[in-house]
Amino acid sequence: MQLELADAAATDALGHRLAPGMLAGIVYLHGELGAGKTALARAILRGRGYAGTVRSPTYTLVEPYEIGDSTVYHLDLYRLSDPEELEWLGLRDMLAGEQTLLLVEWPERGEGVLPPADIRITLQHRDTGRTVNIEAETTRGHQMMGLLESI
Ligand SMILES: Nc1ncnc2c1ncn2[C@@H]1O[C@H](COP(=O)(O)OP(=O)(O)OP(=O)(O)O)[C@@H](O)[C@H]1O
Ligand SMILES: [Mg+2]
Repeated sequence: MQLELADAAATDALGHRLAPGMLAGIVYLHGELGAGKTALARAILRGRGYAGTVRSPTYTLVEPYEIGDSTVYHLDLYRLSDPEELEWLGLRDMLAGEQTLLLVEWPERGEGVLPPADIRITLQHRDTGRTVNIEAETTRGHQMMGLLESI
């Protein structure tokens, strides 16, 4: 599914539309620096009902969010020097929970250790806005996108 996101408000709106389906699973967020990966992750967290501050995990690499009975982990692996470092970050514990969503920026850096994506989202610059491509790659991914496709 390909969409045009004319401005930051459109990215925000997409995050809110995606949020209800994104209860558990692994979402890869692709795109170059400044493409809007953090902006979209923030909007998904807002859509899930998280009202606090959402910081980019640029330096911490992972930011956890407790939302009701579930947990969302927002990762930015840009500064990961080796996929094996994901163990140090506690990936095993993150994956242990059943009601857990992982939003992963720069998933390429974790290749080989990071589990495959349920949904792959790719943001690209287009004029002053962005284009976004959203692909479901597993059964769970299709379920997660079900709500979006019915709109
Ligand atoms: N559809 C859009 N059109 C124009 N600007 C947008 C759009 N969506 C987001 N932006 C803006 O682009 C910037 C994207 O920054 P953001 O931190 O989200 O990028 P990023 O992909 O996470 O980069 P990094 O790889 O450095 O983490 C923000 O200033 C945001 O407001
Ligand atoms: Mg970012």
